Amino acid sequence: MANVIVIGAQWGDEGKGKITDLLSRSADVVVRYQGGVNAGHTIVVKGQTFKLHLIPSGILYPDTKCIIGSGTVIDPKVLIGELDQIESLNISTKNLLISETAHVTMPYHRLIDKASEEQRGTHKIGTTGRGIGPTYADKSERTGIRMLDLMNPKGLREQLEWTINYKNVILEKLYNLSPIDVSAVIEEYLEYAERLKPYVVDTSLEIYQAIRERRNILFEGAQGTLLDLDHGTYPFVTSSNPVAGGACVGTGLGPTMIDRVIGVAKAYTTRVGEGPFPTELSGEIGEQLCSIGAEFGTTTGRKRRCGWFDAVIGRYAVRINGMDCLAITKLDVLDGLEEIKVCVAYEIDGTRTEHFPTSSRKFAQCRPIYKTLPGWQQSTSDCRN
Ligand code: IMP
Ligand code: MG
Repeated sequence: MANVIVIGAQWGDEGKGKITDLLSRSADVVVRYQGGVNAGHTIVVKGQTFKLHLIPSGILYPDTKCIIGSGTVIDPKVLIGELDQIESLNISTKNLLISETAHVTMPYHRLIDKASEEQRGTHKIGTTGRGIGPTYADKSERTGIRMLDLMNPKGLREQLEWTINYKNVILEKLYNLSPIDVSAVIEEYLEYAERLKPYVVDTSLEIYQAIRERRNILFEGAQGTLLDLDHGTYPFVTSSNPVAGGACVGTGLGPTMIDRVIGVAKAYTTRVGEGPFPTELSGEIGEQLCSIGAEFGTTTGRKRRCGWFDAVIGRYAVRINGMDCLAITKLDVLDGLEEIKVCVAYEIDGTRTEHFPTSSRKFAQCRPIYKTLPGWQQSTSDCRN
């Protein structure tokens, strides 16, 4: 299998979970390289359904190493909840490794995420409210708390005292929120640190060693290409780099060590949150795709916006990710439709283009040019399974 990156070719929720699960069977190591608990997939084990936001589903295989890389942001409370769930099924978590340089989501990040969305009003992004943006903002601002800080209790007390007092000023002055209880948070996070300590290592070195031992490594992207901070529909994006290039930055691995990039796309398009979406369907067909495709978010339960397949975006995703393989999911959802439309180009200001415009303002003005295909009544296999 060699070293493979799996990425979302649209706005996330393409069904990457199913594809990575399939590939995980032949992988020795599965790595998450960006995002945090904004991502999520549902898993059924021994008849029990549960949701994982951070830990790769490869953890269910007894010999697969699972790594949460340095480019991710970690909400320790959620992570510990996932560890508890997995262990309650008598499945070992000993193969999990967490990067010591990954950043930690703090209570103020969640508060700021929600409060800033409220203040934005009609300019809101429609975030998952999990504190993802503010955690990455602190990483850039260099006031972030990293996993290795959690591993040093004495230094942590001092660091948290300073940081929380600093954030309390912002919470009070900017958002009119009550300040956070510094000592309560310190005690809470010291407890998390105790629990997570056995998993925290230099994961970049682990990955490098695995490569030298010729192991198969699977890099699992969260969200999708159009939600990429640099290459997506900015500002309606997430705060990390879901594109294939993000796998190198988010793990500490050089680009020459990647062998393949597999893109995953749905046979139609969905988007959750705000932002332009040229092929969006507002009528009956949109509703039909939503209900047959069960298009509700794993993390927030929000209804996803649905529309036709957009080949302009597909072409863009091939280019930006260097995709050499494409997996299409949920084809069966199109069963029974009288006709199926595929957007092959856009019309903008009376001009036809086959290229994705990097300006969201321009993108919002793009009108899809469709190719209409005859519908089919039955697919050869049920993609839902
Ligand atoms: P954030 O990542 O919570 O900051 O949200 C930013 C944007 O990305 C919003 O439009 C979210 O709906 C979207 N988003 C974040 N994570 C996912 C995901 O896993 N699937 C689909 N959309 C997502
Ligand atoms: Mg998802």
